[in-house]
Amino acid sequence: MKEVTVTAPVNIAVIKYWGKRNVKLNLPTNSSLSVTLSQDHMCSKTTVSVDDSYDTDSLFLNDEQNEIGGRLSNVLAAFRSLTEDASLKDAKVKITSTNNFPTAAGLASSASGFAALVFALGKVFVPTYNNSQLSTIARQGSGSACRSLFGGFVAWEKGESEDGTDSSAVEVAPKSHWDDLDALICVVSANKKAVASTAGMQRTVETSPYLMHRAEQVVPQRMADITDAIKNKDFDKFADITMRDSNSFHATCLDTHPPIFYLTDVSRLIIGVVHALNEAAGRAVAAYTFDAGPNAVLYVQRKDKDLVLSIVNDLFGPCEGAQGASHSTLLHEAKID
Ligand code: PMV
Repeated sequence: MKEVTVTAPVNIAVIKYWGKRNVKLNLPTNSSLSVTLSQDHMCSKTTVSVDDSYDTDSLFLNDEQNEIGGRLSNVLAAFRSLTEDASLKDAKVKITSTNNFPTAAGLASSASGFAALVFALGKVFVPTYNNSQLSTIARQGSGSACRSLFGGFVAWEKGESEDGTDSSAVEVAPKSHWDDLDALICVVSANKKAVASTAGMQRTVETSPYLMHRAEQVVPQRMADITDAIKNKDFDKFADITMRDSNSFHATCLDTHPPIFYLTDVSRLIIGVVHALNEAAGRAVAAYTFDAGPNAVLYVQRKDKDLVLSIVNDLFGPCEGAQGASHSTLLHEAKID
């Protein structure tokens, strides 16, 4: 028997990926950029084992057996074709994965989940592969997963090729470069999102005239500008671009037909509070960003963390833990990994 256990972190995009130019290969319409969060608070832990006694592949997600299909089958097929160990070509695998945070609630669980899975399978099937090579396989599981193979600040270059070999993740800066940045996760709802990201992206690609404008005219400059902001540790600029890009992504969701609503009234209240706070301070104290769900991630500089925490707690109630929370609840102060 061969068995490997790994963990992988969550990443939260500040330039959002939304839209596939090739659905089968998970190639994006635009490049994206994210910050990897600390595994102390949020991670996926995955064990992969291979044994002659297994007669079928199996998957246990948060202790429940799940079907293996679609993109997971593609990932397994990719590893089986890449391995140089002939005994592994037809070997069956058992995958066990758990998250220590709400699954599929717009908190990037597919990113950490597929990153952990690909990292573990990589160790078994292609031990010589580096993280960049593995990121092109993780991308085929869940696009954003390719960014979770690196810590710190990570770009996913959309690439130009047809086969996706150049659509991979690269490190923009390590965590140590900008160490006093924190992320506060505000769980507005721990329920599963109403429209899964793949279905949502497909509907947006098919119906939103704004999407290609965003991909071609807006995102390329933002990728360059936020890279500069990170290199110069310019929080004002970082916050401005992060908030604008979150709003631009949710605008494409609204421009989709029928529209997709990921934000709720509580999400919009958080947006208002952050703008009021920044305006009162005359500088960026916090930056919000929302993935495909109502939960806010607030990026703050460490010197402002306690202030922002106390404001969020005062306005939105005490910490109750994520499960079953019906209104905004502060789940974590995640550090940046
Ligand atoms: O990787 P997916 O298919 O779960 O899509 C992620 C989409 C967003 O979280 C909304 C944006 C992003 O870049 O992570």
